[in-house]
Amino acid sequence: MKKVNTCFYLLLFVPALFIACKQKQNTTNITTVNSPDNTIDVKFALTTSGEALYLVQHKNKAVIDTSFMSFDFKDLPSLKDNFEIIKTTTASADETWKMPWGEQLEVRDHYNELVVYLQETTETKRQVNIHFKVYDDGVGFRYEFPEQPNLIEVIITDENTAFNLVGDHKVWWIPGDWDSYEHLYTETKFSKIDAVSKQNHPNLSSSYIVENAVNTPVTMKTNEGLYLSFHEADLTNYSGMTLKVDPENLSMVSELVGSERLGGKAKLAVPFNTPWRTIQIEEKAGDLIESKMILNLNEPNAIGDVSYFTPMKYVGIWWGMHIGESTWDLEGNKAANNASDAKLSVSRHGATTDNAKKYIDFASQNGIKGLLVEGWNTGWDKWLNGNREGIFDFITPYSDYDFKEVMRYAKEKGVEVIMHHETSAAPVTYEKQMEEAYGFMKENGINSVKTGYVGKIIPKGEYHHGQYMVNHYHKVLEEAAKNKVAVNAHEPIKATGKRRTYPNAIAREGLRGQEFNAWASDGGNPPNHLATVAFTRMLSGPIDFTPGVFNVKFDEFKKNNQVNTTLAHQLGLYVVIYSPIQMACDIVEHYMDNGKVHPAFQFITDVGVDWQKTKVLEGEIGDYVTIARQERETGNWFVGGITNEDSRTSTITFDFLEEGQTYKAIVYKDGENAHWNDNPQEYTIEEVEVTKGSTVDIKLAPGGGFGISVMK
Ligand code: NOJ
Ligand code: CA
Repeated sequence: MKKVNTCFYLLLFVPALFIACKQKQNTTNITTVNSPDNTIDVKFALTTSGEALYLVQHKNKAVIDTSFMSFDFKDLPSLKDNFEIIKTTTASADETWKMPWGEQLEVRDHYNELVVYLQETTETKRQVNIHFKVYDDGVGFRYEFPEQPNLIEVIITDENTAFNLVGDHKVWWIPGDWDSYEHLYTETKFSKIDAVSKQNHPNLSSSYIVENAVNTPVTMKTNEGLYLSFHEADLTNYSGMTLKVDPENLSMVSELVGSERLGGKAKLAVPFNTPWRTIQIEEKAGDLIESKMILNLNEPNAIGDVSYFTPMKYVGIWWGMHIGESTWDLEGNKAANNASDAKLSVSRHGATTDNAKKYIDFASQNGIKGLLVEGWNTGWDKWLNGNREGIFDFITPYSDYDFKEVMRYAKEKGVEVIMHHETSAAPVTYEKQMEEAYGFMKENGINSVKTGYVGKIIPKGEYHHGQYMVNHYHKVLEEAAKNKVAVNAHEPIKATGKRRTYPNAIAREGLRGQEFNAWASDGGNPPNHLATVAFTRMLSGPIDFTPGVFNVKFDEFKKNNQVNTTLAHQLGLYVVIYSPIQMACDIVEHYMDNGKVHPAFQFITDVGVDWQKTKVLEGEIGDYVTIARQERETGNWFVGGITNEDSRTSTITFDFLEEGQTYKAIVYKDGENAHWNDNPQEYTIEEVEVTKGSTVDIKLAPGGGFGISVMK
């Protein structure tokens, strides 16, 4: 028999007394639902005054202590107490579905479900149903507001879903900013979280940190070595959730992003569902990455075939602008981000016909399928002068960019052009322009777009992560799908697994990307950045991080900025960071070495972007991570590893390979004396034969990494 937690043992005999380890509650009606393998269970109960609460256990030990759930509304009484349970239902599922593109082909959706139907005992008799799905690796729950006579429309002023922790866990967090996720992760004890004093972000064009809250996914490690991550799934027609922190009581409560125009958080017509609140619970850090719970909590594909999008690597007229080599605008008189020579006498416009052809040639010669061109359309001269509304039309190229000719040349060379729409955070205008803009793409055979939302949202009073923008980003996906367009959004709403329903949502930014290394005044992303991102931001979905800087210090352009990793670390990122589109972001000149392509570029040429399987081989949050992924179609494997500022040796055991097959493993790793700051570009390439079970030791430099192609 399994050990019964003392608190609950009492419950069995004294049902009126619900005791969790921190708080005593008089309760009635306790309902339990277990994960299929029984490691996790969720208990739901009402207090004697009819308040709803839940508790989560892992191996019979509380992970989430007694936590209450309620809603406050504008001009309506709160939905908080006087509940009775009308009925409960349970169900189970064990299904497998296929991802059109992804970290793996097949996804198992295996859970036990409990639905608790609550109704007020008071005259209003308002109803809310709480759906719990318990997986072997976590819990999701959402509120369903069913159709009912006394609740027609609501403005939610607060959703109060509490998450009471059972210890002062170690936490990797970013502030609960309503406008941006582009913050560095801070590692502290929960009781030391202070998001408010992190207010000053000179590098951000919009940022609004209201109180001591964190954004999700927020990942934690308990003293017992359990890994937890809190997030949400299927964020649709609702506001993004931050988690307000109570450092003293070790508790968090949902704090939705607000709207000053609405005077609340979210406006909804009943019936509606909230997003799922998710808690991942794992014994190994790497299992957080392998979990597919968040995706599973989303609805199946709603847009059908998305074969118009093929996962790809791409180069771009992009990094040049960020490091100040070229400009978005035609006159070239506004070098990017305060490059030393802000006024140039000669145009350094990046998006010229000739430059585009140069990138197309490089791509076609090096197995790169895509080309992103930023600054191709008129309006950038105004944008860089601070104007944002209505300055772009997404159909008018600059005079030195022969759009048709570039498209013709790209087609001839077998390269796909990726469209760029910088909406400048003016969604009303963009919604008016979408039809024409996507029509233009269709006419020209372009199937994917990178969108951007730089700056404060116009109209004022709305924020990037509020319901208004959630609905905008959703509308973009729908309109794009109608036009067979795949979307890579920058300054996006966070990923919540909606790529399952809308697989044209291919990737997004939503973190401090590579660009910060080009211009941030705080020294850029530290060496441990991506080893943290892999266990935090990446749990939500694909990241357009844009790896692949080979000229790590780019001193000829910027003396005070650099990438804080080795070159080999940049290679490791192609496997560590998941995205169905991966940029080789450096300018082509930096990929050339005495007229020849840099030898290490071969890894980028070879590495897959669409996977059959993913295995996290090892990892600790913020320290290091090693991932192996098997490419669809070819069956080849690629392994990537990165470390923080500490050097380490990684032993790869190739037990994931096919029995009886010999593979050629090409190892791209740090040179003997490599170091992220002192000697970032030293690398070596070695070739070894491996079979199932072989082991290879690899030394990673401080801030280093490696990439291995394991080909049949
Ligand atoms: C910010 C995006 O993250 C970056 O990739 C892009 O180049 C600029 N906005 C301009 O749209
Ligand atoms: Ca950005």
